[in-house]
Amino acid sequence: MRYENIETRIEGGKVAIITLNRPKQLNALNDALMTELGQALQAFDADENIGCIILTGSEKAFAAGADIPAMAGYSFVDAYKGDYITRNWETIRSIRKPVIAAVSGYALGGGCELAMMCDFIIAAENAKFGQPEIKLGVIPGAGGTQRLPRAVGKAKAMDMVLTARMMDAQEAERAGLVSRIVPVDKLLDEAIEAALVISSYSQIAVMAAKESVNRAFESGLSDGVTFERRLFHALFATHDQKEGMDAFINKRKPTFRNA
Ligand code: CAA
Repeated sequence: MRYENIETRIEGGKVAIITLNRPKQLNALNDALMTELGQALQAFDADENIGCIILTGSEKAFAAGADIPAMAGYSFVDAYKGDYITRNWETIRSIRKPVIAAVSGYALGGGCELAMMCDFIIAAENAKFGQPEIKLGVIPGAGGTQRLPRAVGKAKAMDMVLTARMMDAQEAERAGLVSRIVPVDKLLDEAIEAALVISSYSQIAVMAAKESVNRAFESGLSDGVTFERRLFHALFATHDQKEGMDAFINKRKPTFRNA
């Protein structure tokens, strides 16, 4: 499929890379881009050969937020009734395979929210995260006020949302927003390496792990632990559980069938 606002490619037969591609607008997220992103994510999610997806931008910007000129003239009715600006965003949440955000440069507003919708963030040393919507007379509209406090705690989230200050990569890692920091020129290599590792495991176990970790943010501890236990027990019905454990016992490499 041909896209105008993103580029896609496959690495090592198993890893899909989606690159946001509106460089002149610092990858500002308009409706067309978000539609294409949703289509690409769904296509890779459905592709049996793909084990993990990477979402990235340019060196200067992962994404500088929702497209400001595109939304500046909206009325309340446009925004609410048409669900403009954020209507395509929920697609990302429905993706069942892991999605890694590889962030270099600015991840602001919707860009930060998009990165947070991914399963984890690998940041380049020059990454900058922020929710500067307050400067525009609005507030984050794609999950920022909900996901940021879960990631970094209330104090830092309030600080960022209310003052619009940016967090650099080091602070973001200390605060728990990003999982690793790497030099700018190693960002994609690091993300691909992580994605290949994930892709080498049983796809079923990987999907169950993602689903179970995400459940931690939607439920209380005892419900979450029960949910995890059900999935854990269910995995004993798979070929890959027998294969993984037999391979360990017999000191050989497992061959997972995703079955
Ligand atoms: N929407 C549309 N265009 C944008 C954009 C955005 N969010 N961010 C940057 N651009 C455009 C600029 O208008 C500029 O275009 P021109 O060359 O045609 O003037 C180009 O990208 C380069 O930007 P700058 O010249 O500003 O580059 P800079 O290096 O001086 O600054 C920046 C970079 C700090 C990221 C700055 O561009 C900026 O502050 N951008 C806006 C960030 C922002 O407010 N994001 C939140 C948007 S609202 C939102 O996201 C709502 C939501 O929650 C869903």
